[in-house]
Amino acid sequence: MVLIGRPIGELRRAYDDLNRTLHELKQAQQQLVHSEKMASLGRLVAGVAHELNTPIGAVSVAASTLQKGGQELQKSFAEGLQRSTLERFLQRNDEGLTIILGNVTRMAQLTRAFKQLASDRASTERRTFDLVELVREVMLVFALKLKQSPHLVILDLPDSLMLDSYPGPLGQILQNLIDNALIHAFEPGMQGTVRVRLDHDSLTRRCLIEVLDNGCGMSGEVLAKIFDPFFTTRRGQGGTGLGLHITHQLAVDILGAELQVLSSPGQGSQFRLHLDLA
Ligand SMILES: Nc1ncnc2c1ncn2[C@@H]1O[C@H](COP(=O)(O)OP(=O)(O)OP(=O)(O)O)[C@@H](O)[C@H]1O
Ligand SMILES: [Mg+2]
Repeated sequence: MVLIGRPIGELRRAYDDLNRTLHELKQAQQQLVHSEKMASLGRLVAGVAHELNTPIGAVSVAASTLQKGGQELQKSFAEGLQRSTLERFLQRNDEGLTIILGNVTRMAQLTRAFKQLASDRASTERRTFDLVELVREVMLVFALKLKQSPHLVILDLPDSLMLDSYPGPLGQILQNLIDNALIHAFEPGMQGTVRVRLDHDSLTRRCLIEVLDNGCGMSGEVLAKIFDPFFTTRRGQGGTGLGLHITHQLAVDILGAELQVLSSPGQGSQFRLHLDLA
């Protein structure tokens, strides 16, 4: 030991230094975990904003068509209105309003889902919620990404699955796992499939949340380290290596769940989360 034979005061100082460094490191780690959470919230905002664009566009087109129709009707009033013109106007009016109403309803659904997801993310509150709805809300985050990617996410869900748990952390876990599959599992040029599956056992009162991909899988060496903080195979390409560390922390410490991973090279990866329904 290098320290043997050193005066006590020097040892004390070295010990204090080490403690201070450890404290600073812990703080830095907490800050990184926090900024990773903020980044994933940012992706969510981008996803929802993109989803809102489609109905907003449709409403705006339909509204300007209605406006034009109204102007034409006014003109034909001056020229002597014919019954057929009025009938055509009324029919187009009805069609336009149907489009507007349908899209406004969709926007309201999206904003509601987003508000729920955002407030869940901000808190670690426990409540009763529908896991199927949560999965669908999380998928909003990926809408834009999936439109621009060759990969497919298949949802294998029951009609509803009520859970008394923590929707915020659970949403974050799902987002991290799906995100990882889309980023890491598929080589360029590949067309991959990610499957999100929910199942439950009413006897044991437990449920299973599964995210699996048919991608390149992981070697034993990688698999052994994936939950370590800062372990990433994409350093310098946007990976912080905190995603699965946070996922594990949330799953085990907050949800009280078991998180299992099955993966081997060329065989895809399967993340399985087992947790109590209540
Ligand atoms: N579905 C998957 N297929 C193949 N490899 C994966 C998969 N999921 C995770 N990995 C591997 O596990 C590593 C750690 O994942 P983790 O989510 O912790 O970090 P990251 O995705 O690299 O970075 P971050 O999530 O912080 O942006 C990844 O770098 C990747 O090598
Ligand atoms: Mg990740």
